[in-house]
Parts: sequence; structure tokens; C-alpha cells
Amino acid sequence: MENDWTAVDAYIVAKLLPDDPVMDAALAHNAAARLPAIDVSAAQGKFLHLIARMTQAKRILEVGTLGGYSTIWLARALPPDGHLVTLELEPHHAATATENLRAAGLWHLVDLRVGAAGDSLAQLAAEGAAPFDLTFIDADKPNNPAYLRQALTLSRKGSVIICDNVVRAGGVLDAASADPSIIGTRALFDALSTQPGISVTALQTVGAKGWDGFAMVLVE
Ligand code: SAH
Ligand code: DHB
Ligand code: MG
Repeated sequence: MENDWTAVDAYIVAKLLPDDPVMDAALAHNAAARLPAIDVSAAQGKFLHLIARMTQAKRILEVGTLGGYSTIWLARALPPDGHLVTLELEPHHAATATENLRAAGLWHLVDLRVGAAGDSLAQLAAEGAAPFDLTFIDADKPNNPAYLRQALTLSRKGSVIICDNVVRAGGVLDAASADPSIIGTRALFDALSTQPGISVTALQTVGAKGWDGFAMVLVE
């Protein structure tokens, strides 16, 4: 089945996504820099881009930059006076992302903060950052419940929050799992299920990046 998922993703990309030398260069640079190939897929990146445009997002927050592949998709959706804050723990990932965002001509829109995302999110709140229109949470999964809570404090009525990797090839069903990422993902579902003032769903995805899924939150 995974072969079929990948082949269909290739068909979708070939049919619907124009050739994209900027994205190709970013992925090649990430590979050369030995970053793990755990970026969103092209079709998923375009999906995030469209969500940002459909919500007319002017302020975007990303938790987990890696080499900036999803960052480029999101930043491309911004108007010229838009702004994207992206948070990354690993200096080498951040340096690679910086180069990719520069090469993409998007660096002037981006505030990349290096450090533990929990600290950076607390710092943003302490700075009195204006609410973000769209937040993409895609860093260390054990901290997802904390990132959700912090993202909510940086949101307003109508803000959208999307969390990546909430299915993990079905791993989310394993209530006895000792994997901190699964435990964190299940804790995220618990938090989403009890959080007042939001409307939420989760969508499974298959494709070039296997079987996984997004949770999507609308702040009410
Ligand atoms: N959003 C990227 C993929 C992110 S992969 C894309 O789709 O292109 C997850 C990233 O989160 C990795 O770069 C990892 O270094 C980073 N990360 C892990 N723990 C973190 C933490 N505590 N704070 C901030 N970033 C973290
Ligand atoms: C992993 C992290 C991700 O954000 C992802 O999309 C896929 C895998 C990981 O840590 O394994
Ligand atoms: Mg991810």
C-alpha cells in the first residue's frame, strides 16, 4: 500500500503542483546538511500554504523549523507586510533553514528563534506578541500538549492551529505505548478533547511520508 500512496502523491504533485526549483533546492540543501527527511510532503506543504491563504493569515507561528521546508510553504502565503515566527532547537537546523529562506527570497518576512520552543513561546507571550492567525505545531511530540496550551494563549477568536503527526502509522491507538511521542500525541488528543473554546478535528493522511495526520483547531 505504501508504494501506492507514494505513487499517488507523485501523480498529485506532477499534475497539480508546478515545478518548484526553490523547494527542490531547499530539500537538496537539507539532504546535503544531513537533516532528517521529516519535512511535510509537497502536497501537505501546499495544503498548509492554502490554509494560510484561505484564512488570509498575516501572522504565522511555526513550532519546529527543521530546514524551513514547511516554513517556505507558509511564508509564501503571506502578504508583503506579513510575518512568520518559527522556532527551532537545533542551531544546525536553524542555520540551514536560514540559508533556504534567504535563497527563497523570504527571509525578510521571518523571525527564526533558536532555542527550546517552550521557552520561545513563553518569551513571545512575555513580549506581548500580537495574536497569530495560524500556528503550525511540528516539533518534539512529547511537548505537544504544552505547545497547544501556549499557542492558544497566542491566538485570538478565529485563529487556526494545526498539529502535525497525530496518527503515527496508527501508533496513536496504542494506549500502552512507552514511546514518548505516542504518549505525547495521546496527551494532545486528551487536551484537545477537553479544551473549552475550540472546535477541532483530525484528518489521517497517506502519501510520500507514510500514514500520519493533522489535527486542526479553530479558536472560538
Ligand atoms: N516543520 C518542518 C519539520 C520539523 S521536524 C517541516 O515540515 O519542514 C521537527 C523539528 O523540531 C526538528 O528540526 C527538531 O530539531 C525540532 N525540535 C525538537 N525539539 C524541539 C524543541 N524542544 N524546541 C524547538 N524545536 C524542537
Ligand atoms: C518525525 C517528526 C516529524 O515532524 C515528522 O513529520 C515525521 C517524523 C520524527 O521525529 O520522527
Ligand atoms: Mg511533522
